[in-house]
Amino acid sequence: MTPSSPIRIGSSWYPEMWPESEWPADLARMREIGFSIVRVFEFAWHRLEPREGEYDFAWAHRLLDRCHEAGLEVMIGTPTAAPPAWLTSRYPEVLQTHPDGSHATHGKRKHYSHHSARYRELCAGIVDRMAAEFSRHPALHSWQIDNEMSGADFGPETAADFHRWLERRFGTIEALNAAWGLEFWSQAYDRFDQIPLPTARLGSIEEPERHHPSLLMAVAKHRNEAWTDFIRLQAEILRRHSDKPITSNMTWSLGMDWFSHNRELDRVGHSLYRDVLHYHWNAHVYDRMRAEKPEPYWLLETAPSWSATGRLWNIHHDANGVQAMAWMSLLMGGEMVLFWQWREHWAGQEMQHGVLVSATGKWRPNREAMRQLTADAEAAGPWLAANPPPKAEVALVLSNRAAEAFSIDPSDEGMRYDERWRDDYYEPLRRHHIWRDVIADDAPLDGYRLLLLPHLPIVPEITRARLHEWVAEGGHLILGPYTGYRTPEFTAFRDRDFGGLEALIGAESALRFPVQWVEDKVRIEFGNGRSGSAKSLCEAWEPEPGTEVIARYRGGYGDGLAAIVRNRFGKGAVTTAGCRLDADSWWGLVAHHLTALGIRPLAEGSADVVVTPRGPAGFGIVNLSTQSQSIRLPAGGTDLLTQTPCGPEIALAPLAVRIVTTRREA
Ligand code: GAL
Repeated sequence: MTPSSPIRIGSSWYPEMWPESEWPADLARMREIGFSIVRVFEFAWHRLEPREGEYDFAWAHRLLDRCHEAGLEVMIGTPTAAPPAWLTSRYPEVLQTHPDGSHATHGKRKHYSHHSARYRELCAGIVDRMAAEFSRHPALHSWQIDNEMSGADFGPETAADFHRWLERRFGTIEALNAAWGLEFWSQAYDRFDQIPLPTARLGSIEEPERHHPSLLMAVAKHRNEAWTDFIRLQAEILRRHSDKPITSNMTWSLGMDWFSHNRELDRVGHSLYRDVLHYHWNAHVYDRMRAEKPEPYWLLETAPSWSATGRLWNIHHDANGVQAMAWMSLLMGGEMVLFWQWREHWAGQEMQHGVLVSATGKWRPNREAMRQLTADAEAAGPWLAANPPPKAEVALVLSNRAAEAFSIDPSDEGMRYDERWRDDYYEPLRRHHIWRDVIADDAPLDGYRLLLLPHLPIVPEITRARLHEWVAEGGHLILGPYTGYRTPEFTAFRDRDFGGLEALIGAESALRFPVQWVEDKVRIEFGNGRSGSAKSLCEAWEPEPGTEVIARYRGGYGDGLAAIVRNRFGKGAVTTAGCRLDADSWWGLVAHHLTALGIRPLAEGSADVVVTPRGPAGFGIVNLSTQSQSIRLPAGGTDLLTQTPCGPEIALAPLAVRIVTTRREA
């Protein structure tokens, strides 16, 4: 039986932990609350291959049969996040080496090195056998690769691979020395194998006398490319056996270049846990996931009630909250929500976690909420599938490389790229209900009319070329602050400060100076006399003739010099901010371009409400606050879930969800 709605709601479940006699009751409970999919096996390597080369798939087949009989589809996880003890004891070289040279021990998960050739060979073995076994099973819905991949290895095999990788990129050690400027502190190398593998983790700025920035960036790139290879290896094997879609549950770790990793997969997937006060922090993730692929994304993990370990994890979703959380994902472009997890673990590291059923088989909170969610999703599913969110006209670039870059060379103390990107640049768009996509730093720009490019030290070559073309053709660009001043090797340019972006900016750099600790002494002043603040590191401009000066610095080293400039370039326009601005000043720049382009907000009203356009005239609306809120749509219409007419003014109870299809404006 396949569900009639394209939307899938379900959960993770660990049947390997339970006697088979208990499976039917769990499956019946899943169906009772309307679940249509279950995610299994992602940590079950030991049960599937108890001894090297000895496979036991019979129990897993029985499980799939039971799921099929119960009317549940199955997402199968490749179990490579949890190598069994026979593997790690026979092949200890697969265990991760920590930066201090110590090794991970068995007894956790994700303790492998993704660079290890032996580990990849062993993964290929189990994945190939699983794909061959299950690819024709009628319950199979999709595949998940590994689980929340992340991690780094600092062992000799990885170091040797890094050296070969550098040699392929640079050819000779002299070329590498020259590209990275390694006469600095006498760091020049004689041979590739002398190059250390430092701990290039986000936050390395906290380590004094840190390693060379170009080296740290290269380590991060090498690590990420190895993850891409790890994913591709498994995806290619799965595709040889099966035509079902492949995904993985990425996490919000900017050290992982999900944009590249997701290119290897069919569906963008994510794990997202947030407490009720921070539901809105998921919005930008959905705007990114949706923009990454034409196919709807999947939310592969979220908590059904509460979660554990750590501050933000004690999330206590009540019945409305858990539905708001799920609907936000579905309305912003998702097609699946899986809860973590189904039944309380009776043993192991994760006994404390919100679940739907206890270890003893009792219902836990939110059974009714799930019933409501699945019923509503079933009802609205076909309409939502026929009315996907359209591509936005406004795009904001998010960059894993920028996160690495700022962790090495922050623009001010305590700066975290992800938080600044979210709070200074993403959230204002969302709170003003401007429909937006979040895209990679090398994404194609076709179809966008306004592009925001803040905090992007390295603008990839391809993007530099595209920007010139796209702006010339009429694109509006807001550049900066801190964009385009580093080469691809993370060095400074030696010809022009912005490596040629000056043509777009319409100005040359006049001066760069920090204002941290003297922020009260430096202001910016706009043409109309309004003043704003200049924060962090400031770039002052020497404008070309014809370039408009929007604001000037007042006070400090840059007193009187241009702080914000605007240039007409071809049919388009470029505004460049020389420094981090206060919220009003920044929004003023964005609003100027929105007005010039005639881009209107989706709705007016509470910033705590997330509004998503659906199809030509529909809206998904979620009140993310625990207070009543209201929002005004461009027109009235019909509330899809209740099938009742509604006016343009939508009153929303705390955490309420609405799907409204409006009358088209004439
Ligand atoms: C996720 C992980 C799950 C489980 C869950 C607990 O990060 O993928 O396996 O550990 O967290 O919230």
